[in-house]
Amino acid sequence: MKYIRKAIACLTAAAVLLLCGCGAVDPNNFFGSAQDNAPQKHKVIIDTDTGSDDAAALILAASSDKLDILGVTVLYGNVPTDNAADNALMTLEVCNVKVPVYIGADKPLKKERKEMVSVHGSDGMGDQDLIHPHSSAEKGDAVDFILDTIKSDPGNVEIIALGPLTNIALALKKDPDTMKLCKRIWVMGTPGFGDGNATPVAEFNVYSDAEAYDAVLRAELPMTVLGFDMAATEEARLTKDDMEILALGNEKGVFMSKAFSKLFAFNQESGQNMTLPDPMAVACLIWPDVVLETKACYGEVCTDDDDTYGQVILYQKGVVYEAMPEIGSYNLDVVTKIDADLFKYNFMSVMTD
Ligand code: RIB
Ligand code: CA
Repeated sequence: MKYIRKAIACLTAAAVLLLCGCGAVDPNNFFGSAQDNAPQKHKVIIDTDTGSDDAAALILAASSDKLDILGVTVLYGNVPTDNAADNALMTLEVCNVKVPVYIGADKPLKKERKEMVSVHGSDGMGDQDLIHPHSSAEKGDAVDFILDTIKSDPGNVEIIALGPLTNIALALKKDPDTMKLCKRIWVMGTPGFGDGNATPVAEFNVYSDAEAYDAVLRAELPMTVLGFDMAATEEARLTKDDMEILALGNEKGVFMSKAFSKLFAFNQESGQNMTLPDPMAVACLIWPDVVLETKACYGEVCTDDDDTYGQVILYQKGVVYEAMPEIGSYNLDVVTKIDADLFKYNFMSVMTD
């Protein structure tokens, strides 16, 4: 037996020498270099209304070797646009990463900003006097940055949208052909198949600008939708113990425990632990095993000025409804099952690493 093994080894060596000799194989890279086999990084733009959960999402993204963050574009939502920019800049400094930040929309497409409860605190980051960035936003406009970046690398740039979709709707309006070259949009938004958080039927990001959501849905771009129902999963929420672990941890953890303070208190008012919607949206990209099931859907959003404003109706592919609308394309991959334990474990590991 030993002889056979030796013979095979000799034959293999001879084959390698023969192949290398005829230049068919690079001797220094016979089994392929590590980088040849490494999965390609996702080239992403993160579009955010930088409240505290957005900041945590930025930390997850900056900590991941799966993402190449080309830039961060900000807009109103949890806070006014300028605060969103400062919060993003400060968070990126805490992560020790240099990523350009571009300022975008300061109000919805057609209406004035809605007055809503500042669940993250008036500065969006717990009102803990955390936000003193040394760096500034770029001079350029967020919408132009989105379009220029997609145009420079057609079919390879993805957007992670963590706030209202106003910047994306404005980019679609300005240059729809370029936006069609966007590889995919990963969206935290809609209640999914659950309850709303802005109203019983509408989720905050959609409710902030339903007209923008309508424009993006009509463009039928490839979208993965992480709805609020997934974030509301009990095992995925941040508990009091988790907050204490963060507060006793490293700079990232202490920063986030302070930034989360108002959002945590808001959730506790209704006797609940704290949801992490934006970090979960990023998790869908960097930890694919967190996503256990998605359903292909066609979506429509309500824009009438009544109690349905911001409601997103999801028609599942393969389901025949008695009142079927004219279906465009089932371009929405709506996340319908997640591994909440894996998400929480990975989230806390990054925050305490
Ligand atoms: O409904 C939750 C979403 O609205 C999150 O993105 C939160 O940051 C707010 O933007
Ligand atoms: Ca957000």
